[in-house]
Order: sequence, then C-alpha cells, then structure tokens
Amino acid sequence: MLLPSGWMLRHSVVMWLLFHSLVLMTLFFHHAATSCSKRCYCADSEGAFGGKTMRCSNLHLTEIPQDIPNDTLRLYLDYNLLTSIPANAFHGLPLLAELDLSHNELALLEPGAFRGLAASLQFLDLSSNQLTTLDPDAFEGVTARSNLTGNPWHCDCRLQTALPHLDLEPVSLTGIICQTSEPSDSGAQGVPFLLAKDLDLCVVLKKTTDMAMLVTMFGWFTMVISYLVYYVRHKERKIKHFTIRF
Ligand SMILES: *[C@@H]1O[C@H](CO)[C@@H](O)[C@H](O)[C@H]1NC(C)=O
Ligand SMILES: *[C@@H]1O[C@H](CO)[C@@H](O)[C@H](O)[C@H]1NC(C)=O
Repeated sequence: MLLPSGWMLRHSVVMWLLFHSLVLMTLFFHHAATSCSKRCYCADSEGAFGGKTMRCSNLHLTEIPQDIPNDTLRLYLDYNLLTSIPANAFHGLPLLAELDLSHNELALLEPGAFRGLAASLQFLDLSSNQLTTLDPDAFEGVTARSNLTGNPWHCDCRLQTALPHLDLEPVSLTGIICQTSEPSDSGAQGVPFLLAKDLDLCVVLKKTTDMAMLVTMFGWFTMVISYLVYYVRHKERKIKHFTIRF
C-alpha cells in the first residue's frame, strides 16, 4: 500500500521539529546541570590549575546561588544584597581559593559559614559590608588573607576576646577600624583595633563585676548586722521584763 506523498512530507516535518526541540532541551538541561549557575557569568580559569571563575556580581542577589559548580576556583558575589552567610554556604567547593563578598549588606556570619574552606581559601573579601563584630566559629580555621575594611566595627570586650581565636592572616586585622566602641570613651574609635592593643576593653567589664560583688556583699553584711542588733534589743527587753516582774 502506498501512502500519499503529501502525508509523508507533513509527517516528517513534524518528526523533524520534535527531534529538534528534544535536542535543544537536552542541550539546555545539560548546560544547566554541569556548567554554570543561572544568571551568573562563568569562565574557565586560565593557568595550570584549571577550575572555573564564577561572576555573580551586581545581580541584586539576596541569597547565595545553590548551583555553583564544584570545580569553582574564584567566586565573585560582590555588589549584591546579601545580609548574612548561613552555615555551610560554600560546602562542596574544595577548590575555592578566592571569594569576593564585598559591597553587600552582610551583618551576620553564622557559625560554620566558611566551613570546608580552610584548606583551599587564600583570599576573602568582606570589605564594605555592615559587620560590627566577628565570630571565630564562622571561620573554622580559615587562614586566608582578608579584606575587612569598610565595616562599622564595634570594638568591645567581645571583639577583643574573639581576635586571638581567629586564624586569618594577621595583616588582615588592620582592616578592623573601630567605628564605635564600648566603653565609648576608650579612645579606640577611628583607629585600627590592632593598634589600640594596649587598651583593655574587658577591664571595664571586670570593674563592673567587682562593683556588683561589692554591693551584694555590703547588702548581706547590712542584713546580718541588722538582725544582730534586733536580736540583742529583743533579748534586752525580755531581760527587763523579767527583772520588773520579780
Ligand atoms: C565534582 O563532582 C563530580 C561529580 O559528582 C566529581 O566526579 C568530581 O570529582 C568533583 N570535582 C571536585 C573538584 O570535587
Ligand atoms: C579592600 O577593600 C577596599 C574597598 O572594597 C578597597 O578599596 C581596598 O583596596 C581593598 N584592600 C585590599 C588590600 O585588597
């Protein structure tokens, strides 16, 4: 039986179109799954190490993209709207050497924020954010050179206690310039925190604790004395009664 040639032609055109869209879809999904995060610009790094450079700068991002390829070497997330870095944000990126988080709204680095990066990370840019203090638990042994300038650092006992527990390259800490301090008359304001090393911001706290102890002890002492006085007077009255009766 012979089919009309017009029918055959129409059929093969439809088949061809179907096949074509299938190929396109496969290519699209393959691309999304293996190479680059949506929206970000992505390039293979030049140089011997290979790996990728991901540029997600200036994209109004409020969250860190989930689909970052695991062979990313450099990641640029600068000029976005990130407010915090959650725990394990960069987990599964064993090659990541350079991380740019500058010019965001970062006020909080959660404990474990840079987990897994201790071995690979060499440069961390946290400049021009809203950081006021540093939690050593966010860094977990990261020794990278860091840019910490341009943040409204609040220099107090908490920050002073945190600094010795940070493994960041020491020169990085010169970027911590106190915008406010506790106590406010400590003289730390406007100077790099490291250079204001001699002043002990925890002394004030100790003094406050000592004062509280003193007040409490004085309170107890007063109570004991009052009780003794009351007791003695009571006894005296009883003795007087006794002598009057007889
Ligand atoms: C990235 O993931 C793939 C597939 O899971 C794995 O084969 C490869 O070794 C990983 N690359 C790195 C650098 O971890
Ligand atoms: C640190 O960041 C600031 C502002 O983002 C920039 O001007 C400065 O050059 C950076 N410093 C270093 C040492 O990278």
